[in-house]
Amino acid sequence: MALPARVRIYEVGPRDGLQNEASPIATATKLEYISLLRGAGLAEIEATSFVSPAAIPQLADADEVMKALAAERGEVRYPVLVPNVRGLDRAIAAGAHALAVFTAASDAFTERNIGMTVDDSLTAFTPVLARARELGWWKRGYVSTAFGCPFTGRVDPGRVVEIGLRLLELGVDEVCFGDTIGVAVPSQVHHLTARAVSGGIPPEKVAYHFDDTRGTALANVVAGLQDGIACFDASTGGTGGCPYAPGAAGNLATEDLVYLLDGLGIAHGVHLSGVLVAARFIAKALGRPLASKVGQAGGWDPLSGQQVL
Ligand code: COA
Repeated sequence: MALPARVRIYEVGPRDGLQNEASPIATATKLEYISLLRGAGLAEIEATSFVSPAAIPQLADADEVMKALAAERGEVRYPVLVPNVRGLDRAIAAGAHALAVFTAASDAFTERNIGMTVDDSLTAFTPVLARARELGWWKRGYVSTAFGCPFTGRVDPGRVVEIGLRLLELGVDEVCFGDTIGVAVPSQVHHLTARAVSGGIPPEKVAYHFDDTRGTALANVVAGLQDGIACFDASTGGTGGCPYAPGAAGNLATEDLVYLLDGLGIAHGVHLSGVLVAARFIAKALGRPLASKVGQAGGWDPLSGQQVL
C-alpha cells in the first residue's frame, strides 16, 4: 500500500515530555521550549494539562502557560489535557482552544491515573466534550495502554476499538491509541488498525502514540503509515512518560520521527535543524544528555550528503 503523502506530527514534549520531571521547570523555560518548537514548524503542540496539581505538580502552571500561548497563537494548535469539567473551566479561562480527554483500555490503569473506571471516565468526559463542541474546539480522545497495561498485562484490541468508538460518539475529532509502556511491535499495530477500521473508525480519525521504551516506536510508525495512518505523536528530545505507568520510559523523539519521514519523502512541515535546536535546549534545561538517536548523531541530507546539525 502507498504511504500517506503527508502526515501530521503531533508534538507532546511540553506536556507528556515534562509531566514526569521531578525538579521544577520554570514557566519561562517551558515557553521558550514551545517557542523553539513553533519555530521548527510544529503546528500542533500539546502544551500542558489542566489536571490536579497534586497529581502532576510539574504542570501546576498550566493556567499561566496557556494564557501566554493564547496571546500569540497564530496558526498553531495547542491542545491541553482536560480530565473533568473543573479542568475545562480552567482551560476556557486561560484561553485554550483545543483539548484532549484521556482514558485507557484498562480499568486498573485508568483508576490509578485519573481515579475513575474507563466507563466513569467516559461519563465524566460527556459534558466536557459537549461544551467544547459548543465552543468550536478541536477535540482528541486518548486510549492509553492500547497494547498492554502495566498492571493487568494483555489488552484486548476489541476493547480498545470499543472505547475509541465511544469517544467518537461523544464528539472527539480524533482518537489516539497510545502504547503507554512501549510494548507494541508492528504486527500488533496492523492488527489494531484493521480492527479499528473494520469496527467503524476511519484511518483519518486515528493517531498513534508510540513510546520507545523497547526501541520499537519507529518500526511501529512505519506499520501505521502502511495502514494509511497520517498522525503520529512525538516528543522533542525523546523525554517523557506517564508517572502512573511504571516502566514508561520515554516517547518517540520528534527528531527521530522527522528524520524517518524526511527519508521516506513524506511531507510534514517540520525542519529537522529546528527540532534539534529545541531538543538540545530542553536537554540542557533538564540537565541531561540528549538521548535520541538523531539527537546524538545529527541528521543527514540525502541530496547533499551533508550532515544536518
Ligand atoms: N484541576 C485542578 N484541580 C482539580 C481538578 C482539575 N482539573 N480536578 C480536581 N481537582 C482537585 C479537586 O478540587 C481536589 O482538590 P482538594 O483536594 O484541594 O479538594 C483534588 O483535585 C481531588 O479531586 P477529586 O475530584 O477528588 O478527584 P481525584 O482525587 O479522584 O483526582 C483527577 C481525579 C482526574 C483530578 C486526578 O486524578 C488527575 O488530575 N489526574 C491526572 C493524571 C495525569 O495527568 N496523568 C498523566 C497523563 S497520561
